[in-house]
Amino acid sequence: MYNVVRKEQLGEVVTLLELEAPAIAAKAQAGQFVIVRLAEYSERIPLTLSDWDADRGTITIIFQHAGRSTEELACVEVGESIRDLAGPLGKATEVEKFGTVVCIGGGIGVAELRPIAKAMKAAGNKVISIVGARDKSLLILEDDMRKASCELHITTDNGSYGRKGFVSNVLQEIMDSGQKIDIIYAIGPVPMMRVIADQTRPAGIKTLVCLDAIMIDGTGMCGACRVTVDGKTKFTCVDGPDFDAHQINWEELVTRKKMYIPQEKEASRHYHEGCCGRCRK
Ligand SMILES: Cc1cc2nc3c(=O)[nH]c(=O)nc-3n(C[C@H](O)[C@H](O)[C@H](O)COP(=O)(O)OP(=O)(O)OC[C@H]3O[C@@H](n4cnc5c(N)ncnc54)[C@H](O)[C@@H]3O)c2cc1C
Ligand code: FES
Repeated sequence: MYNVVRKEQLGEVVTLLELEAPAIAAKAQAGQFVIVRLAEYSERIPLTLSDWDADRGTITIIFQHAGRSTEELACVEVGESIRDLAGPLGKATEVEKFGTVVCIGGGIGVAELRPIAKAMKAAGNKVISIVGARDKSLLILEDDMRKASCELHITTDNGSYGRKGFVSNVLQEIMDSGQKIDIIYAIGPVPMMRVIADQTRPAGIKTLVCLDAIMIDGTGMCGACRVTVDGKTKFTCVDGPDFDAHQINWEELVTRKKMYIPQEKEASRHYHEGCCGRCRK
């Protein structure tokens, strides 16, 4: 059992939980994730380690209420507990002194980007971060990202905060300004990561993305998270989640991510018909 020691609403549909998990906190590295199972019959879902504190023995997960499992998780209160946490899983992000690193996060991807920007800065890089959301109410961790970066750019699709437009618009301006970029790291919705891959491919800028393929066990055994990278089959959970954006078969990823939409809708409908309603307060 993993006790919840802090809970915060970062927005209407985004929740932060800090959990007592000393063994995971002691080994966590930027870019890794955990598989969470709330109760005995709950689904197993992957969530990134957004932060951890080895001294306190805690880890922090931040998640968007996307469907049944994340809505259920958002109902857990301080003092309650989560049944299973497996992790840290996945390969840690490649962090070294590259020079200038552009870190790009869209939506909930900013929660996943934070430890990477922090680690890149600690490694002596000039970190230029670009974070975006559809709307001001969906923008998270602005202060944390400011601390983790040397320069922070904010965009909203509708112009309700920061620059109006997309993170890719700001990236294009930086590229056009002649600023040397040694590596780009991007996390967000697949269409955002795909646009960035297309943008940086002609310029030959090394670009890593964090893929959110559907996962079950998270340890390389089930094959659910299969992706094709450079023509070869890779498992996102053990070979990733970071991959070279220019070598991913994006079409296949998009198709595989949509595979269970009817079942996801059905699970959500069942849950809302029978749930306690705490998540909708
Ligand atoms: C390595 C990794 C790290 C992630 N980190 C975060 C994070 O830090 N914060 C966050 O909000 N989200 C994160 N996600 C996505 C998160 O796992 C899904 O939002 C969650 O599983 C949705 O489950 P649900 O039942 O609430 O929604 P559902 O209605 O079941 O699904 C909504 C959408 O979520 C995705 N999804 C559903 N089940 C899974 C699954 N088992 N594995 C992966 N994706 C799934 C699908 O795209 C689906 O269409 C991560 C995904 C991966 C692979
Ligand atoms: S989640 Fe099963 S192999 Fe990756």
